[in-house]
Amino acid sequence: MDKFIIRGGKKLKGKVEISGAKNAALALMPATLLSRGIYTFTNMPNLRDVRTMATLLSRLGVDCKYRVHKMVIDTSSVNRYEAPYELVKKMRASIYVLGPLLARYGYAKVSMPGGCAWGPRPINLHLEGLKKLGAKIDLDQGYIIAQSKRLSGNNVTFDVSSVGATGNILMAAVLAKGTTIIENAAIEPEITALAEFLSKMGAKISGIGTRRLEIEGVDELTPADARMIPDRIEAGTFLIAGAITHGEVTVTECNPENLIAILEKLRAVGCKLEIGVDYVKLKAPKKLKPVDVKTEIYPGFPTDMQAQWIALMTLASGTSIVTDTIYYDRFKHVPELIRLGADIELHKNVAVVRGVRKLIGAKVMSTDLRASASLILAGLVAEGTTEILRIYHIDRGYEFIEKKLRALGADIRRVSSKEY
Ligand code: EPU
Repeated sequence: MDKFIIRGGKKLKGKVEISGAKNAALALMPATLLSRGIYTFTNMPNLRDVRTMATLLSRLGVDCKYRVHKMVIDTSSVNRYEAPYELVKKMRASIYVLGPLLARYGYAKVSMPGGCAWGPRPINLHLEGLKKLGAKIDLDQGYIIAQSKRLSGNNVTFDVSSVGATGNILMAAVLAKGTTIIENAAIEPEITALAEFLSKMGAKISGIGTRRLEIEGVDELTPADARMIPDRIEAGTFLIAGAITHGEVTVTECNPENLIAILEKLRAVGCKLEIGVDYVKLKAPKKLKPVDVKTEIYPGFPTDMQAQWIALMTLASGTSIVTDTIYYDRFKHVPELIRLGADIELHKNVAVVRGVRKLIGAKVMSTDLRASASLILAGLVAEGTTEILRIYHIDRGYEFIEKKLRALGADIRRVSSKEY
């Protein structure tokens, strides 16, 4: 397993290009199962999760060809309808094949995702929604077996706003007979990107970007092409890298409109921001002010930035409170940050972060994707050397992170397991 060695203390300076969004790619790739034919996706990030989704699709008979940032997907020969345990356990987003397989082929067998690294992540809303559209769902030896003749439109109201459940029901409803109304739909930009892509394929969806989606099912869709939207979490992470190292970082090829909650908080910390159509330039202050954060569904502050925010707050000039209202257990980074000298107290889903004067490098372990990002951020500024083990998590969601950080002046290198 590879590890990162970071020598902290370098101020980051320069421009960094933001890649395509992981969570948009993971939603659009399975949507190609809805119609046989050839699709071309551009701005596709080179990530482990994207490769895992390609592997899963290829198990179903799909041909996925990936060249730099471009993926050509051919779904002409889909002939299997099963997402096996060994892939679903690697990546929960595999559940996204459930809706399209069922809608297009009337059958899907998908391994039930277990808990994830930081705690339980149920899929009850996906299953209840599909049942509402007429699917028969059974659980057999850890597999969800979903069957239906043609699905029928219905009203689906989510108690909790869910990105994945909205995506799955949307992909199922576009081929259902009649009209489906999704109430309390997720409005995360990746879901909007999915809805726009489905519309390009011929789906009839109104209310895109709102909490009420109305879908009039069609008999058939046709393949379409898409460009992935920029990754807002990667952009936010690099802006924090600039802030934590007291540097000056410009994230380019991003969409600042999708970053509003993060930018507001960075301003409150004292960062100076210049915002363009597709870039944000951040100049960090000398002293970071403590700023509380509560994660919320979009357009609120994203849970996927909570770990990185805690890393930033460890060096603020005072105490801040960071609350995660989406995932109560997503705090595996806290004990590792404490190993680097942070002063954090955890009370259920609330972290009380007392800013310290400095962090000191140590060996730490990454436990999940965003936790790894927070450890890298801390390592960039910690005194001495920080070694981050198990960095395969970071490769799931950040493209060439060490190269991008090095281009900004960071002293970070990847050591492959063969070398130690
Ligand atoms: N929930 C339920 N039942 C369900 C589904 C969700 O109770 O059937 C609850 C969850 O427990 C959670 C809340 O609803 O409290 C929101 O979960 P959601 O379904 O929106 O999450 P997801 O679709 O599983 C996506 C992203 C995550 C991101 C969350 C929240 C993808 C592939 N994943 O997950 O991204 O944290 O939305 O924004 O889009 C990441 O990129 O690091 C990551 C984990």
